[in-house]
Amino acid sequence: MCGIVGYTGPREAYPIIIKGLHRLEYRGYDSAGVALVNENDGLHVYKKKGRVADLEETLIGANLHSHIGIGHTRWATHGEPSDRNAHPHVSFSGEIAMIHNGIIENYAQIKKELLKKGYTFKSDTDTEVLVNFIDDIKQNNDCTLEEAVRIALRRVVGAYCILLVHKDDPETIIAARKGSPLVIGIGKGEHFLASDASPIIEYTKEVVYVNDYEIAIVKPDELVLKNLGNDKQTPFITKLNMDMAAIEKGGYDHFMLKEIFEQPNTIYDCLRGRLDAENGNIIMSGIQKYAEQIINAPRIIIIACGTSWHAGLVAEYIIEETCRIPVEVEYASEFRYRNPIVHKGDVIIAISQSGETADTLVAIEKAKEQGAIIVGIVNVVGSSIARTSHTGSYTHAGPEIGVASTKAFTAQLAVLTMIALKIGYEKGTLDKERYLYLCKELAAIPEKAELVLKLDDHIKEIALKYKDVPDFLYLGRGYNFPIALEGALKLKEISYIHAEGYPAAEMKHGPIALVTNTLPVVFVATKDAYHGKVVSNMQEIKARKGIVISIITEGDTASPPLSDDVIVLPAADEIVAPMLSVIPLQLLAYHIGVAKGYDVDKPRNLAKSVTVE
Ligand code: F6R
Repeated sequence: MCGIVGYTGPREAYPIIIKGLHRLEYRGYDSAGVALVNENDGLHVYKKKGRVADLEETLIGANLHSHIGIGHTRWATHGEPSDRNAHPHVSFSGEIAMIHNGIIENYAQIKKELLKKGYTFKSDTDTEVLVNFIDDIKQNNDCTLEEAVRIALRRVVGAYCILLVHKDDPETIIAARKGSPLVIGIGKGEHFLASDASPIIEYTKEVVYVNDYEIAIVKPDELVLKNLGNDKQTPFITKLNMDMAAIEKGGYDHFMLKEIFEQPNTIYDCLRGRLDAENGNIIMSGIQKYAEQIINAPRIIIIACGTSWHAGLVAEYIIEETCRIPVEVEYASEFRYRNPIVHKGDVIIAISQSGETADTLVAIEKAKEQGAIIVGIVNVVGSSIARTSHTGSYTHAGPEIGVASTKAFTAQLAVLTMIALKIGYEKGTLDKERYLYLCKELAAIPEKAELVLKLDDHIKEIALKYKDVPDFLYLGRGYNFPIALEGALKLKEISYIHAEGYPAAEMKHGPIALVTNTLPVVFVATKDAYHGKVVSNMQEIKARKGIVISIITEGDTASPPLSDDVIVLPAADEIVAPMLSVIPLQLLAYHIGVAKGYDVDKPRNLAKSVTVE
């Protein structure tokens, strides 16, 4: 939610900031803005409702000379998307400009105090309140901006990553974070700041991940980190393991399509070096360290949101089957506010692509305090959830830029399957023969995913046939039930068509009332233990003249006669099949969204990294 970029150094700041904002636009695209400080004539702020490109257009021909700047792309929280609510916000005195990612929960109280002092506000944002609060402290205490920020942040409740510049200081950016991410790239005589590494990678591979409650004082040739008690902290420099190609479209029309097509490789990358199917070895050092605790865990609680929550549901089936450990899957946003019962020794698996989802982060912090062991399954290296977890495993799917999660989901499933097989085998609940067989089935998934992608043209034809219907129903049983949920979510977010996912058998307890001869019902019906039952459910839909689109396994002769459209997948064991059966659903949503003329990489109202609750 919201992307922030900053630069200080010898280069022109504006082009770096704008390019960075384009890379971070997946985090929010309600408005964009930049603040530049020119050594001759001070602070200049430009901002506009809409996309980064809209801002850029209005600035063509403007004199934007400056060696320091901050930029913001917004996902609106307080106040509608508009020019006046766009960041940066400038303090009442006109001296300080600030950008912010997060939510200041006690802003109303602070605003009341400032109003009493005669401050007026131009926007509805919590950010404008905070920048004025900081400026007020600075003036009253006659202190530096850095000191004012420190004093202010001791009062602030909420989440923030803030970047500030002062009109009289064409060198220094003051930055601080709590709960929202901040990476600082270390160049030669220059520094780059951003919400993630994608705006930085082009210039340097050396970065510092700023921790919660730290303030960074950033000048071209100096980076000082302090905590809120004013003690200096040693910056920990990390080398980025990412290349430019990973954050570009590489010939595809959209990031979403590129990421769907990357899945054979991303699943392979995720398994590589961990799964040795020939010899039946799964090497996951993070998991091995805690294997004893996981094996003996009285239960496992999986915490996640959205698509990652769907991966958790698949994992529930796999872990209970192979490890015989009870698993609960929780929405992080519910778990954190529910006074949940967590015992010492419970294992919490937190699943997150971004590693920054605020609800998931707070939920695991809470469970950690209660003595649980936190295992993070995270895509973004060095992210907050990865760092808060006791242990875990990265999914290695590479940067996921399309707002709808695709390749991160299948990589999550690959990691979770490896964990389940490893723990099940070590625990003795999974016998050797089945373990070896499943290792081979898992290793075969990248190749089979290639075959599924070959169905793209056929899936596009189906998409064009149904693109104008108002509703879809997605049904599946067992391992395929969460895939039905995921298919419905993808369609909703990309094509804005109402869609519901349901357990296939549950349909007759209500949703069957929706079935008419215009309702497409997508059956995720690959071969598994319940396949005969799903075929019966298909029959029930057909008997009511519903349209059946079925996703089946090769060799299935029962489903095609009941289906209007059929998508045939290669055979795979039911435990690993979800990594294949989700791909046609991703493509279906993608092609319908494109056919309807929507921006599938940036669906309305959404943002990639949900750092607010
Ligand atoms: C859907 C989607 C979201 C995310 C959810 C959790 O396509 O992308 O539902 O899955 O916001 O995000 P992470 O996995 O980053 O915690």
